Amino acid sequence: MRKGWRVVLITFVVLALVSLVAAACGDDGEPTHSHPAEFLAEGQALFSANCAGCHGAGAQGTDIGPDITGESESKVLKQVRKGDPGEMPAFTVDQISDEGVHKIGAFLESLD
Ligand code: HEC
Repeated sequence: MRKGWRVVLITFVVLALVSLVAAACGDDGEPTHSHPAEFLAEGQALFSANCAGCHGAGAQGTDIGPDITGESESKVLKQVRKGDPGEMPAFTVDQISDEGVHKIGAFLESLD
């Protein structure tokens, strides 16, 4: 009888630990391709702060910069790091982190 209770207790502790680990992973897990709304919202905020001045609030383009709605993430990453002399400034990792660019890319892709 006492042994039986111990098994129940151990099972309970193990389950509690597993759900703790699962919860922790869920919090800072790698972004997947089904981007959560929060991820896109952060991308939009970064876009508004750094890019909207030239590309427009909805990335639809202005007199200065072209329409970049639906632009692929890989192209965005390349363009943002390299820039284009005389046209578009390059952004360093200190200005926008790789994750930030990834978020901006996800936001732009979601606009298509
Ligand atoms: C000072 C104005 C300016 C800012 C700020 C700016 N851009 Fe641009 N961007 C341009 C211009 C002008 C072009 C077109 C020339 C070119 O293709 O290099 C361009 C081109 C691009 C392109 C390539 C479009 C294509 O069809 O080839 C992408 C992608 C892009 N910008 C993304 C961004 C992102 C993301 C940001 C913010 C992190 C940003 N830009 C900030 C002016 C700007």
